[in-house]
Amino acid sequence: MQKDHSLLKEHYQFTKDDEALLLQMRPQMESFADEFLDGFYEFIWKFGKTADFLRDEAVISRHRGKIRQWYLDLFGGTYDIFYFMKLLKVGEIHVRLGLPTHYVNAAFNYVRVFTLDRIRQENKDDESLTKKLNAMEKILDINLDVLTSAYREEEMSRFLSLSRTEKTLLGLLKKVSGYFNYVLAGALLVVASFAVGLFGYDVYLLFFSQIQVEKGILTILGSLLILWAAIELIHQEMNHLRGGSFALEAFITLAIAALIRKILIFSLSPAKSMDVLLYGLLVLCLSISYWLIVQKMKPSKGQ
Ligand code: HEM
Repeated sequence: MQKDHSLLKEHYQFTKDDEALLLQMRPQMESFADEFLDGFYEFIWKFGKTADFLRDEAVISRHRGKIRQWYLDLFGGTYDIFYFMKLLKVGEIHVRLGLPTHYVNAAFNYVRVFTLDRIRQENKDDESLTKKLNAMEKILDINLDVLTSAYREEEMSRFLSLSRTEKTLLGLLKKVSGYFNYVLAGALLVVASFAVGLFGYDVYLLFFSQIQVEKGILTILGSLLILWAAIELIHQEMNHLRGGSFALEAFITLAIAALIRKILIFSLSPAKSMDVLLYGLLVLCLSISYWLIVQKMKPSKGQ
């Protein structure tokens, strides 16, 4: 850490002048501490699951005290090994709590906007304003770097703790799943082409067969619904190939579309009332599953 912390300062070109400028700003910035803290919690509370981590009043008040100290230390003028050790420990605590790294990154956006804004406001006519802003940017970037390094180390240590065979297997599985994804993308294109074919065939039946007009139109609507769901599935697979998560809900949408098509067709035949009812029940079950998946993915509000 001794060497690391000097290197870190060097990489960010964080100089003695920057340290002095931050210390110089301390009295100004200290007067904004309460305003900073109120805004900080208002900001992070909107993340959705904040209350899962800051569970009760005792934890919140302890955290508030620690954040106040951390904020003041930004303008402490001393950025030695102990300063960095403290930051590393905070990062490790966040990792241990399972706090998403995204929460820390997002919280820093608030810190950056708040501090830079107050520095600008308080040093309007100061010729060293730009230098002060630069010093602030540097210390924030350094802080973020150290706080998130614990997350990188955790990932790395998890990987390093795997045996050679496990690492080889992991690499192989990654490669194979990559190829299968391309196969899946190809298969989806074939399905979409079939859906276009089905739509064309339904249009053909409407005009060139004895089919009732009402039934013909409903059948066409059903095949359009399937085509739309297949296109949605292709979009989701494109997202997945770009590194996004697997979208189970798109498959459910396709299944719902296929069932609705059946319902549309059967609804015209009184003899198929039972089938319509059963398909209706299936659609209801799938819609509930869809809703549950979408709710689970959405950050909960009002926390
Ligand atoms: C700018 C971003 C943040 C900074 C600088 C920061 C700083 C800190 C510090 C200094 C501690 C105390 C570590 C110790 O005990 O030595 C801490 C602990 C903790 N942090 Fe953060 N934090 C940040 C963001 C967050 C966010 C966004 C959350 C939750 C959504 C969070 C949740 C916690 C919790 C639950 C603890 C443990 C509190 C306890 O039980 O004492 N932190 N954090």
